[in-house]
Amino acid sequence: MDPLLFAEDIHAGYGDIVIVHDVSLRVEPGEIVAVIGPNGSGKSTLLKSILGFVKLFQGKVSYCGEEITGVSSDRIVGLGIGYVPQVNNVFPNLTISENLDMGAYQVRGRASVKASMEEMFSLFPELALRKRSLAGNMSGGERQMLAVARALMARPRVIFLDEPLASLSPKPASIILSKLQEIKQSGVAMVIVEQDVTRVLSVSQRAYVLVNGAIAMEGNAESLFKEESAKQRYLGLHAKAVDK
Ligand SMILES: Nc1ncnc2c1ncn2[C@@H]1O[C@H](COP(=O)(O)OP(=O)(O)O)[C@@H](O)[C@H]1O
Ligand SMILES: [Mg+2]
Repeated sequence: MDPLLFAEDIHAGYGDIVIVHDVSLRVEPGEIVAVIGPNGSGKSTLLKSILGFVKLFQGKVSYCGEEITGVSSDRIVGLGIGYVPQVNNVFPNLTISENLDMGAYQVRGRASVKASMEEMFSLFPELALRKRSLAGNMSGGERQMLAVARALMARPRVIFLDEPLASLSPKPASIILSKLQEIKQSGVAMVIVEQDVTRVLSVSQRAYVLVNGAIAMEGNAESLFKEESAKQRYLGLHAKAVDK
């Protein structure tokens, strides 16, 4: 069977500078895939190139067995591929409801949009309580929930999330992660780029480690986490120094 999404031999970058080298990434229906690696290793660039925001120099992207290489980012959303960017992922001057509406701009039929919105309010009761508040007045955690809910409004089969836990304190970060697991239960696949390796691997089935724009390691999330050499070399999880 075809994977849900398959990015194959991706080379991408800015101007004529190649940042991502020969990366292949596969997403199966309903799974959570982590993309981890040091700052500046090209994680965001990889996401953006798959989603049509950054130029692909080489490579192929397929979705449900059909090639979508070079398809515009707008059409990609319509196909069922969501994106939660790291920054500016909500409209601060719009209310929560209006932000959710914007997420469904390609969805036809008022009733269907309304049903999705009710679903989002039951998944995120915090948002329901403040649906007429401006997104700009929300806390970091609430804003991140809204960004995820907004992406879900388009009824995607896979969502790409760029550092959804960045700058959140432990409690809101845990809430977001448990919501993501709940979303996974409903059959939506996710690709999560994250600096917080321990947390993201704890909810992922598979992971890719990106170093200098190339895949340094990939595999089962649990075994990757257990691999001492991976932790030290790529993940920045150095063993604690022991005083003697
Ligand atoms: N818009 C851009 N124009 C030129 N270079 C960029 C741009 N965005 C990112 N880069 C460069 O691409 C490299 C990878 O960046 P990025 O994909 O943001 O890494 P990560 O998300 O892993 O931190 C960095 O060297 C960064 O400076
Ligand atoms: Mg990034």
